[in-house]
Amino acid sequence: MSTVLDFARLKTEGRKISIVTAYDAWSARLVARSRVDAILVGDSAAMVVHGHPTTVGATVAVMALHTRAVARAAGDKFLIADLPFLSYRQGVSAAVAAVGRLMRSGAHAVKLEGVDGHEEVITRIVGSGVPVMGHIGLTPQSVHQLGGFRVQGKGNAQAEQLLQQAQALESLGCFSVVLECIPAALAARITSGLRIPTIGIGAGSGTDGQVLVLQDLWGVNPSRAPRFVRQYLDGEGVLTSALDAYDADVKSASFPATEESYP
Ligand code: KIV
Repeated sequence: MSTVLDFARLKTEGRKISIVTAYDAWSARLVARSRVDAILVGDSAAMVVHGHPTTVGATVAVMALHTRAVARAAGDKFLIADLPFLSYRQGVSAAVAAVGRLMRSGAHAVKLEGVDGHEEVITRIVGSGVPVMGHIGLTPQSVHQLGGFRVQGKGNAQAEQLLQQAQALESLGCFSVVLECIPAALAARITSGLRIPTIGIGAGSGTDGQVLVLQDLWGVNPSRAPRFVRQYLDGEGVLTSALDAYDADVKSASFPATEESYP
């Protein structure tokens, strides 16, 4: 099984880390059979699975449910679960309670967005023996404040702020940090200044690893794919063709055949 220690080792050895999201047992089982290093039970579940326009719709209960489903099928994959919107903004006790629910649901680590104002919470979670992954740049839980899903860190001041935030997350004991939607050169600069691995999404190839939403990778996410997505399968085409083939077989009475029926 990959662990937080493997993350550190992979960076030292200069090997890239691959992560995908999963929200349910059947897709987790497929990821478990692959060589992908780790699974993120992302709060993107709110959008991808539940059809919300943003991740703000995710709750601790929803994340715990998805984490349990994924954990049942994830084999020995390292499993990181997202702390959802506001779950770590209501005091340290509430944050620790949310972490407890996710860890008891089968997570091996948690991820949270941002750093300013979260220092005490991160320190307490790390001090409680739970690995924490940071997440800076485009932090989707703040989408309303950011004015949309936009590239972050473009000007000098914003870039400097992100460099400082990444350093702060490392100092607070995070084992890794996600860099979302920031210029590639900035992501590479942040990466070279940190001992902990950076995981990029829309942050170019200079990070220590990448994370992608599984449904984007498989081509089954109905929403418009952002520029940074590489689609490895026309999943939507393949799956709808299968449905149309089934429909045609039912309507022509060629399904079920004799061998698909009980004598
Ligand atoms: O929820 C999620 O899928 C994420 C990734 C985009 C990093 O946080």
